[in-house]
Amino acid sequence: MSGCNAQAIIDAQLDLTIEQVRERMQPYTARVAELQRRYAMKRGVLLQALWLIQEEFGWVPRIGIKWAAEVSDVSPVHAYGVAEFYTMYRKAPMGRFLIQVCEGMCCQLKGANDLIAHLEQALGIHAGDTTEDGLFTVLRVQCLAACGNGPSVLINDEFLYGPGELNEHQEGWSPSAADLDRWIERLRKEAEAKPQPDKVDSLGDIMLDTKGHPGSDGASGAPLPKDYAPPPPALKVKAESQGSAITVSCLCAPEITEASVERSTDGGTTWAAIGTIDVVKTPGVPGPPGGPKTPSYTDEIAVGSTAAYRIVAREAEREARPSAVAEVTAAAVSDDGEEGGKA
Ligand code: FES
Repeated sequence: MSGCNAQAIIDAQLDLTIEQVRERMQPYTARVAELQRRYAMKRGVLLQALWLIQEEFGWVPRIGIKWAAEVSDVSPVHAYGVAEFYTMYRKAPMGRFLIQVCEGMCCQLKGANDLIAHLEQALGIHAGDTTEDGLFTVLRVQCLAACGNGPSVLINDEFLYGPGELNEHQEGWSPSAADLDRWIERLRKEAEAKPQPDKVDSLGDIMLDTKGHPGSDGASGAPLPKDYAPPPPALKVKAESQGSAITVSCLCAPEITEASVERSTDGGTTWAAIGTIDVVKTPGVPGPPGGPKTPSYTDEIAVGSTAAYRIVAREAEREARPSAVAEVTAAAVSDDGEEGGKA
């Protein structure tokens, strides 16, 4: 980042504490509460919470990601991964007008590099930088899904893909250097006429005071039915015999808290629950509580008989559909210690 006061903004915001961010985000309390009511689980709020940070700060400083994690009930590192993944979250302060030019393959073929070079020359900056007056930032980006009008150019959130207004689409039209000059001129005049840009609601003017999602905190709608949005079933179910002892194991999603083992001895026609096991975090797997979990259960059947096993995973009140079935025949352990069946 060069030019303008972007570095000064970054430096100032790097000194922010989480307490200061919480205070600054205080006016958003009602909006956050509304968002939290919209989702059965608070983590659904994360993307919008990051947008609110961007709305307030103009970009997403790291300490702002921590605030977004707090209100979404996820770990800071999870929120950081999400913020980093999406390019529309700004990782540094930008100019008032963000000009993004696609350098994807189609746009390259239609002269994207020439257009970027022209912009750099016209604004006196390199792509990635912001002009001294804080008005323009130019970024090279990947496919904007407007290849037919390439080289694709976005000015803030609007496409330049017609000779008239932004977002006025004309099929097959491509922006030229002269078009960009015209827009730079026009945007400069707009900034002169209105030194303070209008504040944009990053969430598109959300409605307040809805009932919220049934089952979410503070919602006044009907309680969530038990089978709504069931958790993922147990995966990789295995049944292995060591003589008459059968070990049933599987892999469960982090949110699973309990798994019931069911057995069928009539080829899967009828099932009976034979035990409930608490899933445990895999030893040695890094991460917060709630990382990958591998439960196992030991059953006993007569040597030579066959049984099928499946697992029904639960997350609190919610029940996953039964897992895939693993079938095993208990084989006698031979004298040399070789064991029997596996599924
Ligand atoms: S390659 Fe540029 S918009 Fe698709």
